[in-house]
Amino acid sequence: MTLTTAAQAAYIVAALLFILSLAGLSKHETARSGVVLGISGMVVALAATVVLAADGSGALAVTLLVVAMAIGAAVGLWRARIVEMTAMPELIAVLHSFVGLAAVLVGWNGFLQVELGGAEGGAESGGVAGTLLGIHHAEVSIGVFIGALTFTGSVVAFLKLSARIDAKPLMLPGKNLLNLGALAAFAALTVVFVASPGLGTLVALTVVALLLGWHLVASIGGGDMPVVVSMLNSYSGWAAAASGFLLDNNLLIVTGALVGSSGAYLSYVMCQAMNRSFLSVIAGGFGIEAGPAGDRDYGEHREITAIDTAGLLKEAKSVVITPGYGMAVAQAQYPVADLTRKLRERGVEVRFGIHPVAGRLPGHMNVLLAEAKVPYDIVLEMDEINDDFATTSVVLVIGANDTVNPAAVEDPDSPIAGMPVLRVWEADNVVVFKRSMATGYAGVQNPLFFRHNTGMLFGDARQRVEDIVAAL
Ligand code: TAP
Repeated sequence: MTLTTAAQAAYIVAALLFILSLAGLSKHETARSGVVLGISGMVVALAATVVLAADGSGALAVTLLVVAMAIGAAVGLWRARIVEMTAMPELIAVLHSFVGLAAVLVGWNGFLQVELGGAEGGAESGGVAGTLLGIHHAEVSIGVFIGALTFTGSVVAFLKLSARIDAKPLMLPGKNLLNLGALAAFAALTVVFVASPGLGTLVALTVVALLLGWHLVASIGGGDMPVVVSMLNSYSGWAAAASGFLLDNNLLIVTGALVGSSGAYLSYVMCQAMNRSFLSVIAGGFGIEAGPAGDRDYGEHREITAIDTAGLLKEAKSVVITPGYGMAVAQAQYPVADLTRKLRERGVEVRFGIHPVAGRLPGHMNVLLAEAKVPYDIVLEMDEINDDFATTSVVLVIGANDTVNPAAVEDPDSPIAGMPVLRVWEADNVVVFKRSMATGYAGVQNPLFFRHNTGMLFGDARQRVEDIVAAL
């Protein structure tokens, strides 16, 4: 068996490990082994890639590869160690932009190899002679298009998520026509490129894709960003698969397809959870028009102290805690777990209600609560708890805002209209922990804060929960 055959066999093993990893990640209990299987698959894949380079291209290629891998691994380790949990979506967006950029470079390389090296150079990049040359150029065009779109889309997502640019949707006049026009231009340029490949056509195609990626994500509002991140994850998978075809690398095709389809499915599930049209979101907010600005006057809010909140909790029969992004910022999960223990010792029923997009990434709240050792069985999904609020004595809204906003169900003009929310306002008493009257991620005011049964407990969530624990 030659080294190349062994490496190809290793690729199949790696692909299987990736599939098993995805299966493992689908449940709490098996998630850890899923991660281990994924890491093992990646180690096998990288080792096989080094062997393939050594066998086919010699010492210089291996040296370049190892140096590139060492630099990438060092930067990756450094970033992953220092990243805050709340900044994960931004980091993921940046990583997707690298996949997109890599696909563009691979595509351009595929084109230049054929142009500069003639049939011989082309043969290296996957056997491209005669009619196959047409297929090769179609692959170049598709790979560059998806890659460039993923690149700029991910850069905009990063800028929005890190609040470097406004999270509001960009509403250019005729935005849907612009998107459709860009798609039509891509199709026309691909036909021209396959018929007579030229540098000018590829440049034009790249520019169209870069602009389309920018516009698609810029047109999507802050509240829909979780779906965008997962959609870009899917695009980056398809970009990698396109590169796999160009490089004639089966593992890249399989892995890209796995990422592409799982990302698309996650986006679909999230769209369902947020009552958004999947097609509308992947088409850059297709069919969504800007609602009127929500500067409505909801009246006065009422403040409550930590001591009074402790008093309410002492009297309560049942308490539901709905955490959000602010709990993560304040790292309040530890005192929240203490408070839960204390109340349960007193015989109060305490449960958690988790909105599917609470925080900044899927499962964010569940991870924090598990970290603080809150028992799994009292942490419920939105659909499991929503009908129980009406019979709940006290709801503690800890650093959540958009996910408990009644405007989503009551105001058809609200930018988050139609998004399912936790109906906390149906409880006897609601205490909202936040630092100010500022809006949440989607930038819309929350009428919950002005309801007669809501008390605002201002200050850092961690500090305020500790005050309540002390008062109890
Ligand atoms: P948000 O609407 O983001 O509101 C968070 C609240 O926490 C703010 O009102 C903020 O008010 C408060 N806060 C911040 N730091 C705090 C601190 N140290 N102590 C106390 N309060 C603090 O939260 P949410 O309800 O979790 O909603 C999530 C939002 O993020 C949704 O719009 C969702 O679509 C979006 N999003 C979600 C994801 C995923 S996948 N989960 C990804 C990206 C975006 P103050 O500033 O007044 O304190």
